[in-house]
Amino acid sequence: FVLAQSNHPILNIAHRGASAYAPEHTMISYKKALDMGADYLEIDLQQTKDGVLVAIHDSKLERTTNGKGRVKDYTYDQLKNLDAGSWFNRKYPEQAKESFEKESILSLEEIFAYFGRDQHYYIETKSPQSYKGMEENLLKLVDKYNIPEEHLLIESFSAKSLKSIHEKKPELSLIKLSLCRPSLQEIKEIKTYADGIGPRATCLDKGYIEKVHSQGLFLHAFTVNDKKAMGKLIHWGVDGLFTNNPDVLKDVIENQNS
Ligand code: G3P
Ligand code: MG
Repeated sequence: FVLAQSNHPILNIAHRGASAYAPEHTMISYKKALDMGADYLEIDLQQTKDGVLVAIHDSKLERTTNGKGRVKDYTYDQLKNLDAGSWFNRKYPEQAKESFEKESILSLEEIFAYFGRDQHYYIETKSPQSYKGMEENLLKLVDKYNIPEEHLLIESFSAKSLKSIHEKKPELSLIKLSLCRPSLQEIKEIKTYADGIGPRATCLDKGYIEKVHSQGLFLHAFTVNDKKAMGKLIHWGVDGLFTNNPDVLKDVIENQNS
């Protein structure tokens, strides 16, 4: 991985897809993100009762679907026809230029089958402690769809989840997420199983980013939607940004390079 240099590429990571413009983790959100020039699709994973990995941020259904309760209590067949789009029209009436009621919950398999091995995926194992075999299921799909390791980044707040992936596939690039930022002491431990960190952008400063780079780790910050903040963080040397607005980040990166 290219660490921060003056002209290093800043990764444009579409946070839950282009989630400022379309309901998160739906086909339209991912397609818009790619049309807007995102480098990676960020996909949060939960797991159904029958072990299917699905793209949804919350462990519960209510916020982004017309379903009720926990993802883990339903089979994929019971979830796949839920309406995962109408909530966006209700919450952001001014944004919703189109109706999204046809959008549904996607399985990771559907996403890989549709976008294929040439796409770049930034996959988060969510609440892995509550799902049996989540990491194995993920790696099985990566193999089945032949996703090249250089097109895949795996992130988690759970060190245990990342360590289990690192044991099975040490060649994969892993990112340890933090609610704020890890201490330099914690970074020494993170280095034993991950290649980068994913801190909250508002917890960062230039000096900290330099220290992380001096430890040989890359740094992708979340979640940045404001043009000015993007410019500042890029100037400080981040290696990538998670954003709901990949179009805005694309412009900022292009202007920085011009
Ligand atoms: O992956 C970075 C960011 O997505 C982590 O927070 O809650 O949006 O998944 P969250
Ligand atoms: Mg996430």
